Amino acid sequence: MVWDVQRTKWLGKVCQFLESVSSTQDVAKEWVLNGAPHGAVVIADMQTSGRGRIGRSWFSPPSKNLYFTAALQLLSSHPPLGTLSLLSSVAIAEALRKFGAKVFVKWANDVVSEDGRKLVGILVEGFEPEPKKHWALIGIGINVNISENEFPDELKSTATSLKIVCGRNLDIFEILTETLRSLEFWWEKWVSNELAPFWEKYNRLDWLKGKKVCAILPNETTIEGIALGVTGDGELRLVLSDGTERKLIAGDVSVRPAIASK
Ligand code: BTN
Repeated sequence: MVWDVQRTKWLGKVCQFLESVSSTQDVAKEWVLNGAPHGAVVIADMQTSGRGRIGRSWFSPPSKNLYFTAALQLLSSHPPLGTLSLLSSVAIAEALRKFGAKVFVKWANDVVSEDGRKLVGILVEGFEPEPKKHWALIGIGINVNISENEFPDELKSTATSLKIVCGRNLDIFEILTETLRSLEFWWEKWVSNELAPFWEKYNRLDWLKGKKVCAILPNETTIEGIALGVTGDGELRLVLSDGTERKLIAGDVSVRPAIASK
């Protein structure tokens, strides 16, 4: 099985498929340090230490799901790095919708099903392999063919997969091909600062907009409010019960009183 390299112009043309890695983020970082080109992609069948945001782990069993990292060079003319995970979520949601999956983007790094369960996690890590050279490692985990009973207990009520959402098994490499194609398309818009179509798409796919949410901030405090959407810098806008508006740069958001985020 292979992905269709003809479908992208540059993203993933240079790639490594590995059976088992600690984390595709670690392999990609090492590869950039050793000269990987812009657009190189590392894909693994399983990860032994798959990483999520805020020190969490990412459930990465073999042969069921997709785990990959795209290594992309950043320039100072590019938009703020904080918008890159939002851009990736739009790219992935658009790709998955081509397979009939009714999915949405959820600030800041997720793609979720209609009922708010998570099926994609995105981890964007910036690093500087040498002075003044900046790279982004966009790590993407997509739950593809995993069934509900195969998730560990702690994920059973909050996670889902394409198989569950679409009611059939999907070809992992077709998903990879379509996702890379879409990511390349949206990256090109992002680097040339053509952000209007992206924000338009984000707003259409925004799962949180208009919902009452609870946000846990990086300092561990919690606030509640109604989600109004996202600013041009990628901050989540919340209106609080006293009518004031707060903008969140980072945090973990769940919808009240429904499912809490992973
Ligand atoms: C999150 O939702 O917390 C982000 C999860 C990101 C998981 C992907 S799987 C491929 C890449 N390698 C990792 O170790 N993590 C990312």
